Parts: sequence; C-alpha cells; structure tokens
Amino acid sequence: MSQEQEVDLEDLKGVGGKTAERLRDEGLANLMELANMKAGELSGKVDGIGESAAESIVKSAKEHADVGGFETATDKREARKDMRKIGTNSEQFNELLDGGIETQCITELYGEFGAGKTQIAHHLAVNVQKPEEEGGMGKGAVYIDTEDTFIPERVEQMAEEAGMDVDEVLDNIHVARAFNSDHQMLLAEEAKQICQDNDIGLIIVDSLMAHFRSEYVGRGELAKRQQKLNKHMATLLRVANTHNTAVVVTNQVMDNPDQMFGDPTKAIGGNIVAHNCAVIIYLRKGKKDTRVARLEDSPYLPEGEAVYSIEDQGIIDG
Ligand code: GTP
Ligand code: MG
Repeated sequence: MSQEQEVDLEDLKGVGGKTAERLRDEGLANLMELANMKAGELSGKVDGIGESAAESIVKSAKEHADVGGFETATDKREARKDMRKIGTNSEQFNELLDGGIETQCITELYGEFGAGKTQIAHHLAVNVQKPEEEGGMGKGAVYIDTEDTFIPERVEQMAEEAGMDVDEVLDNIHVARAFNSDHQMLLAEEAKQICQDNDIGLIIVDSLMAHFRSEYVGRGELAKRQQKLNKHMATLLRVANTHNTAVVVTNQVMDNPDQMFGDPTKAIGGNIVAHNCAVIIYLRKGKKDTRVARLEDSPYLPEGEAVYSIEDQGIIDG
C-alpha cells in the first residue's frame, strides 16, 4: 500500500511529535492499523491520548489510508491481486486448495491428535521461504507455539530434504513459546512488529485453543473465552490484511464428547473461530498410515478431500 509509506504519523490530524512518539512506542506506526482501530481501543492503549483525540486520529488515519467505507469490485480485485499462496508438499493437498494456503485470511487446521496439524505447520514455515515459482513467497514465518511442540530439527530435516540452506531457513522462522492465553494474545500483537521489521509471509498459531480451553472451563466461562478469542483473531486478521501474510491456526478436536457443547467433530473454538476463519480444513487419520484433509469451508473453493502422508521428508501425497 504505497500511500501508507507516503504519510507520516505526524501528518494525521491531532498527532504532534509527542503523540507520534507514544504511538510508535506502542508499536502503532502503521496507518492501516490505526485506521482499523476503535477510538476507545486506541485511547485505552496509549497513555495521554483521550477518547476525542483518539477519534480524530482514527478518522484521519481512515482518510489517509482510504479504508472503512465501501469499495468497488475493481478495488477489491486489485487487493486480491496481491494475494499469494503457500504450497504444502503434497500435490493433492495443493489441488484441494487451488495452490495452497492463502494470504489475507485465516486458515484453520483442525483435527484429532496426531492428524498432522503440527507437521503441516512446520512444513509451511519452510515452504513459505521458497521462491514463488516453487510455491513459496520468498519470506519468513512467525511461529507462536503454545504446546512446546515446535522442533527445529524437524524444520532442518524438511529444509535439507528440499535442498535449502538449513541455517537460513531456521533464521527466518521467529518462534515464541506462549505460556498462557494472555501471553499468546500478546505475542500476536508482537507479531505485528516482527512483520513490520521483517519480510514475513506466514503466521502460525499452534495450537490456537489449548490455553483458552484449559483456562476458561465450563459454560459460565464460555462468553468470556469467546470474547478474548475474538479479539485474538481480530489481531491476527489485521496483520494478515496489513502485511499480506497467511495466518494458519491449528485446533485439536476434543476426544471427550461430554465436554462438547455440540458436534464433537466441530472445531473447538465454536462459532467465533469459524466466523473469523475464511478457510477451514479438517484433518483425520486415514487408512494405512495415510491422512485425509477435508476442505470444509472456503469463500470460493468447492468442498473436497485430499490424501496425504507424513514421512521423514514431511508432508507428501498419500
Ligand atoms: P496434536 O498436536 O497432538 O493434536 O497432533 P497434531 O495434529 O499436531 O499431529 P502432528 O502433526 O504432531 O503429527 C504427529 C505424527 O506425525 C506422528 O504420529 C508421526 O506419525 C508423524 N511424524 C512426526 N514427526 C515425524 C518424523 O520425523 N518422521 C516421520 N516419518 N513421521 C513423523
Ligand atoms: Mg500438534
């Protein structure tokens, strides 16, 4: 977005040097991001910016960034032209997704334990670094690991297998372990900064729900959990749109149906996750050590299935 670079924070109505400094201190240097915020959110976040000042900043950012209103289908088509795809290593899987996981939206991988969610996440963090003609974006990845299952040696193995520079591949994956759901949300906020400072094509949250599920237990906590989760997803979606990154979240389905408030094979996040995720893929174990990916929801792709396997070299056709 070229107009973003041409406008300084100081050009916004109501922003002097000091306010600009405060905004930058909070990591809010991006016009598009300010334009997407609510005034209350902004004033709550930055000391010294009151509600009415925040209103004027957001309004001015909207004008400069040209967001918030209707756009023509032509504009929409232009934005989608920037959309990129990251291939998995399985041709069948790629066909199902018409090329791969796309940028500017959130893709949810959900399924039972051992279905391959973490393995796919590892492989995507490698593949995003490949050049475009090989199904990558030539960019790095951010990996938010909530279950301590990120294994650098596994990345090494996949990169080596693909003939890539292993050290470089590892250097381009920014990994953080999230210790609880608040920390996880904070890391998503920090990911914005990493995307500003580095060329990032993919953000992974593996797993999205583990902390939320263990911290917010029972029906009484559900509303609060969903509210937090909604905020978390909004942060991720904002980064996806601002920086043209893909966002992949994983989600384990519960094996204890008693704890479910509905269909046990439904994504655990319930409606909120489904609503925010543009693409939903259900993974399950198939026959003879294979795995099956089922595309359940996409804005424009038909439903369908692909068979894949997890081998030493990573994700391959089943
Ligand atoms: P949970 O996080 O428990 O919900 O599962 P998940 O869906 O993330 O499963 P994950 O991606 O961790 O898949 C685990 C499976 O991948 C194992 O059961 C193995 O079959 C396979 N796998 C993992 N690492 C390797 C490896 O280095 N070589 C091979 N051949 N298979 C592996
Ligand atoms: Mg996993």
